[in-house]
Amino acid sequence: MMNDLVLRGGSVLTPEGVVVADVGVSNGVIAALGTTVGEGKTTLDVTGCWVGPALVDIHTHLREPGQEWKEDVESGSLAAAAGGFGAVVAMPNTMPAIDAGHLARFIRDRGREVGLVDVMPSGCITLGRAGISMSHIDDLWKAGVRIFTDDGDSVANSAVLRSAMEYISALGGVVSQHAVDPDLSSVGHMHEGSVSSRLGMYGIPHAADDITLARDLVLAEMTGVRYHVQHLSTANGVELVREAKRRGVAVTAEVSPHHMAFDHTAVATTDSNFKVMPPLRESSDRQALIAGLVEGIIDAVATDHAPHAALEKEVPFEEAPNGMLGLEWAASIAIGVAALTQEAFFDRMSIRPAAIASLPEHGQVLQVGTAATIVAVDPLHTWTPTTTFSKSRNAPYIGMELAGKVRHTLLRGVVTFSDTPIVAGQ
Ligand code: DOR
Repeated sequence: MMNDLVLRGGSVLTPEGVVVADVGVSNGVIAALGTTVGEGKTTLDVTGCWVGPALVDIHTHLREPGQEWKEDVESGSLAAAAGGFGAVVAMPNTMPAIDAGHLARFIRDRGREVGLVDVMPSGCITLGRAGISMSHIDDLWKAGVRIFTDDGDSVANSAVLRSAMEYISALGGVVSQHAVDPDLSSVGHMHEGSVSSRLGMYGIPHAADDITLARDLVLAEMTGVRYHVQHLSTANGVELVREAKRRGVAVTAEVSPHHMAFDHTAVATTDSNFKVMPPLRESSDRQALIAGLVEGIIDAVATDHAPHAALEKEVPFEEAPNGMLGLEWAASIAIGVAALTQEAFFDRMSIRPAAIASLPEHGQVLQVGTAATIVAVDPLHTWTPTTTFSKSRNAPYIGMELAGKVRHTLLRGVVTFSDTPIVAGQ
């Protein structure tokens, strides 16, 4: 049988575990899997690569509408495909913020027009992300939104959050919280500790995250909502999540690549690319986050890909906006820094994120009949990124040696990224 495309010789994640096999793709689905899949009109040699479901990012800033000089759906989709992603959840802190259905539909449709990754819009918890009254939650839900967040800001008012949790829980959605107390963080620019003391910079204590998370877990237990904590940054946060899971609270957690790759000592350079929210914390926090991910207490790696233009970042550290890029290097950090096994890698970067985002066509281990939405990653290849598909360049990863490299990404059988030439008819 002639397949449209064959991925030859990879370590493939199947329902039976990892097997060395070929994957035959035809008409957008996996048509054959094993050692006798036949020829392909196109063949990709993926010897030595981990082959599994394309990655899912539940925390991406695409900046469209309103801040297209930083990023747009097209440039963000290119970066996502290069990072091995088949789907991304777009954050709603755009201008205007995504607090009603028509805005969510606009994002989803832009994603479809570009066609490189499935762009799933998330919606605000509160109108205009102002934290005062609920957004048009029903309308957002009808537009396909399943994750609700005021990301960039915490929903600080407990009564507002409680109502939103009750409402979203009745629908079956997820409340995803930027868990940073606004009062404890508003004047700070970095982690409050030895480095902030030396630099004479106002800091943000661990407690800013931990207080909000602890409060939210109490409300999540009370309302029964599916609660997700974004960009966990503290060791104590990992323990709070562990304890809540033990009690049966419907909580999931994510960690960003940068909170695993760096700690607050990076800020001593005053390079504003290291200015993120929540801030890079201590080495012990970094280690606890990695351990929490490896153990599975933390469910997902989520990039918090946050593009900002050079002009915006090339200012004194205190004046720079928070955020760094992440889509193109998240897989490398998960492999090279967190040292995930192949099974854990796909579990935390595809299977569980797809479940959190309610994306049934994503995060499927490979077998005949499933959509050919696939990534091939070479875990041993070391490389030094020199550029990015993003419109912005705020990434300390550019120029840094990384281990683990995305080779090919497929969305429903279409190759959306390849870092090695594809030879048709081989
Ligand atoms: O570093 C961050 N950047 N953290 C956030 O929560 C928001 C994000 C952004 O939108 O730039």
